[in-house]
Amino acid sequence: MSCLLDVTDLCKSYQKQLGLFRQEKIAALDHVSFQLDAGKTLAIVGETGSGKSTLAKVLVGIEQPDQGEIRLAGKTVSMSNYRKYNHVIRYLFQDAERALNPSQKIGAMLTDVLRFSTVLDSTQRQKKVIQSLQQVGLMDEHIDYYPHMFSAGQQQRIALARALILDPKLLILDEALTVLDPTLRAQIVNLLLELQQQKGLAYLLISKNLRLVRHISDHCLVMQHGRVVESGPTEQLLTQPQHPHTRRLMGLS
Ligand SMILES: Nc1ncnc2c1ncn2[C@@H]1O[C@H](COP(=O)(O)OP(=O)(O)OP(=O)(O)O)[C@@H](O)[C@H]1O
Ligand SMILES: [Mg+2]
Repeated sequence: MSCLLDVTDLCKSYQKQLGLFRQEKIAALDHVSFQLDAGKTLAIVGETGSGKSTLAKVLVGIEQPDQGEIRLAGKTVSMSNYRKYNHVIRYLFQDAERALNPSQKIGAMLTDVLRFSTVLDSTQRQKKVIQSLQQVGLMDEHIDYYPHMFSAGQQQRIALARALILDPKLLILDEALTVLDPTLRAQIVNLLLELQQQKGLAYLLISKNLRLVRHISDHCLVMQHGRVVESGPTEQLLTQPQHPHTRRLMGLS
């Protein structure tokens, strides 16, 4: 398997205001390094505030790291060349409804993504929009619907269609499945696994749901206070957790 994402020594700190005059520096990412192969799933677990979303935001260019290197398929990604890579890594947020513009029809929303990031003409764009809706189990006529006309599960599918329309190599799921009820979650998980088989997509799954992590991830990385405290093949890590923080997350101590 070829290495898709290679992260080395990533650091990001924030200033936290403590009262009127005092500030504290918080290391949201503290020398984080890991690799992810094409077509594989890496889970990131850790207590609240451990830096999981910060990592996702740095990877998609929403936040800038203080130091460290991100290499995608062997090429260094930096703020200055990020536009070139923003179709390769896509980010699926927790709350699909909030991430969708309520006043824009689904077709227009998906077309805008293509208009912004590709050189496709309008006929090609329309074809691609329909394809991407079908890929996530929605129908052609849905292009004329507004987000509020869909159920929560369908909204998550629309968010997925938007994330996939540029044919990314890596999709980051930041607690994106948490809000769904178990039946819907199972449906979306099956869809994600199918897409991984068909397209060789890699996933970075941020989740507190260890059953889900066990079900779909190959490797797992445990974070605490911005640091990676344990990592390894998921099955091994969850059956023989070494670090006290991992054991705590599993409810073992
Ligand atoms: N924009 C920001 N400004 C200041 N501090 C921030 C900012 N974003 C995150 N932080 C801080 O960085 C730390 C890591 O936050 P992050 O959102 O990455 O945690 P998380 O692991 O995703 O938590 P959760 O599981 O609750 O989503 C926290 O202490 C948080 O308060
Ligand atoms: Mg988070």
